[in-house]
Amino acid sequence: MVQLTVQNVNRVLHDNAGQRINVLEDINFNVNSGEFISIIGPSGCGKTTLLRLISGLDQPEEGQLTVDGKPITHPDVSRGYVFQHGSLFPWETIKENISSGLKAVYGRHYDKKLVDHYIDLMGLKGFESAYPHQVSGGMAQRAALARSIVLRPELLLLDEPMGALDAFTRADVQNVIQRVWKQTRTTMILVTHDIDEAIYLGTRIIVMTPRPGRIKEIVTNPLTFPRDRTSDDFLKFRRTIQDKLNFGVTEN
Ligand SMILES: Nc1ncnc2c1ncn2[C@@H]1O[C@H](COP(=O)(O)OP(=O)(O)OP(=O)(O)O)[C@@H](O)[C@H]1O
Ligand SMILES: [Mg+2]
Repeated sequence: MVQLTVQNVNRVLHDNAGQRINVLEDINFNVNSGEFISIIGPSGCGKTTLLRLISGLDQPEEGQLTVDGKPITHPDVSRGYVFQHGSLFPWETIKENISSGLKAVYGRHYDKKLVDHYIDLMGLKGFESAYPHQVSGGMAQRAALARSIVLRPELLLLDEPMGALDAFTRADVQNVIQRVWKQTRTTMILVTHDIDEAIYLGTRIIVMTPRPGRIKEIVTNPLTFPRDRTSDDFLKFRRTIQDKLNFGVTEN
């Protein structure tokens, strides 16, 4: 069932000198309910801009975006967003951070059991009363994920949530994301620079071109679950995606 449609979308921004930049050009794709879409492309190709349009934080000059057939006009609690650069409030504990969205939406009678459930699921037990600066980067990102997921979004937008993590922590958070996706069947759209991450998680991969950001190709991931990052099939598919990006080596 089609959940999200992005049709003929163009987004123009202006730089400090007032020059027009065609950030996104003629973007078209649909996302079905329950899919995991990975978006991969070079820095500055408009990935964050695209997520902002889908979230409703920004509007395109041309084209249309709809969710369940309705135009996206503003941000909505049904669309979660984990930002590229730190999403946690530094003055709140991990538990307060995870609860804050629920509190804002449902008032003080929010479902506290749900918060405990996600603290458990994200492996944050024992760190409820720690502040963000007192936990590791991986934990902080898991808390940021929990804070969005606890609101039970129908669509979760993830803007490089693992960008700042080392390889071990990154694999750990990837597995957490995959587990939540499988358990909740939330539709997820992940922006990443990391080809392996895009392949490990995505059911389809949107490959973007450098400026102006266009969709080069949408590739269906042939790999079944569970996925093994070292299998021949994985490496073969990785080569396919790498060729489409015209990279000799993976970034990161
Ligand atoms: N508010 C803004 N005003 C002017 N230009 C902007 C604005 N936001 C983004 N841009 C420009 O739009 C282009 C796309 O930016 P965007 O942040 O969407 O790229 P990105 O693909 O997310 O990059 P990265 O991988 O580095 O996060 C960039 O050239 C950027 O400089
Ligand atoms: Mg970005």
